[in-house]
Amino acid sequence: MHATSSSPHDPSGNDVRVNLIDLLGSLSGAMDLVSPAVVDHHKRVAYLAVRLGAQLGLPRADVDDLLLAGLVHDIGAFHDSLEARLDTLRFETDQVFHAEAGYRLLLKFPGFTRIARVVRWHHTKFADTQSLDEDPQVLRLAGVIHLADRVDASCRRGRPSSVQVPQILERVEEKAGRSFDPGQVEALRSLAGFAGLWQDLDSPDLFAILRGLGANAGRILGLTELSAFTALFSQVIDFRSRFTSTHSRGVAATAVALCKVVGFDEQACELMRVAGDLHDLGKLAVPTSILEKPDKLTDEEYARVMEHAGHTHAVLGEVRGLEVVKTWAASHHERLDGKGYPFHLDKARMDLGARIMAVADVFTALTEDRPYRPGMTREQALSVLRDMAREGSLDSGVVGLLVEEFDAVNALRQQAQDQARAEFENFAQAGGI
Ligand SMILES: [Fe+2]
Ligand SMILES: [Fe+2]
Ligand SMILES: [Fe+2]
Repeated sequence: MHATSSSPHDPSGNDVRVNLIDLLGSLSGAMDLVSPAVVDHHKRVAYLAVRLGAQLGLPRADVDDLLLAGLVHDIGAFHDSLEARLDTLRFETDQVFHAEAGYRLLLKFPGFTRIARVVRWHHTKFADTQSLDEDPQVLRLAGVIHLADRVDASCRRGRPSSVQVPQILERVEEKAGRSFDPGQVEALRSLAGFAGLWQDLDSPDLFAILRGLGANAGRILGLTELSAFTALFSQVIDFRSRFTSTHSRGVAATAVALCKVVGFDEQACELMRVAGDLHDLGKLAVPTSILEKPDKLTDEEYARVMEHAGHTHAVLGEVRGLEVVKTWAASHHERLDGKGYPFHLDKARMDLGARIMAVADVFTALTEDRPYRPGMTREQALSVLRDMAREGSLDSGVVGLLVEEFDAVNALRQQAQDQARAEFENFAQAGGI
């Protein structure tokens, strides 16, 4: 083990246990950051789907699947400039790609095959499902998500949902038999009479209500499963733009490599991988037009970009068991001299994990290829990092280790980003990015 300027902080990951519903709830909130017009969309769809499932008398396991599928159903909607996102919600355009992309992403998560398949068909019209080679029960659940999704997309935010019910029912009933399963439309009509349904939907405690309805739905994730899920979710963050398409994977690989060099145990390293995957979670709130702007950003745009680290902190703040991950992830723009953001932490308040994350983010940003420029050479990158350490911005011990281990760390970063790029191209070729 190498010496560093501070003693290694080595949190044990032994007790890492994260409730899947909590994780999906908070990540769904991050996906909704894209537009205030769709605030709580995923949770609202999950709630409506669960209530519809119960009304239809579906088995408990199916209702639980509806809850999970509802929370992630638009996970494949990467290409979400504000306008495109609203179009998707309001006009049923361009929906095949995001449903297919969501399916392909979710398939990577062990145990989510069925939910992935429900997500795949969540925009397929009832009449078109008849000819599909798919388990009829999966199609039934997809139909419930479809109906719940259209109901929520029809609700204008800012007006009580209950006031909008007659209009929504009328629109849905017009399409019974074609877009929607008539039996499911009937169930919606019966449910719609309960004022409590619409009150719940607009409640600030919607997620708590939802959790109560699905008390047993969420399994508890250990570190390995958590890491598998965040690896796929990092693509939701990165794939919004070719400019960022491999960034999170690169930061995660670099940060983990540095953790190994300083001697963190295996579990702390894995927690760092999760933090690397999620560090730019808050970028979902930054419009792609700003992420991809070729010119210098205005002050206002720059301020918008800077907000992302605080969003990462806020979103992860809701998940019990992710406290260390949250701290490390949200520290990637903090600097030892207190000039970073979002909290202007300084030496005294940045543990070794936070210092590693900050170095990993800078290192990856310098060395990764971007569409408009190749990554820096070894000499250029090291010179920037050494300057930042000398100025007291980055940890000199961590930078020193990176200098020593440059080739090995850089190879791991490169490998992770090459793999991420191949996956991005796969998605891009499928037509939606
Ligand atoms: Fe959708
Ligand atoms: Fe949706
Ligand atoms: Fe960032």
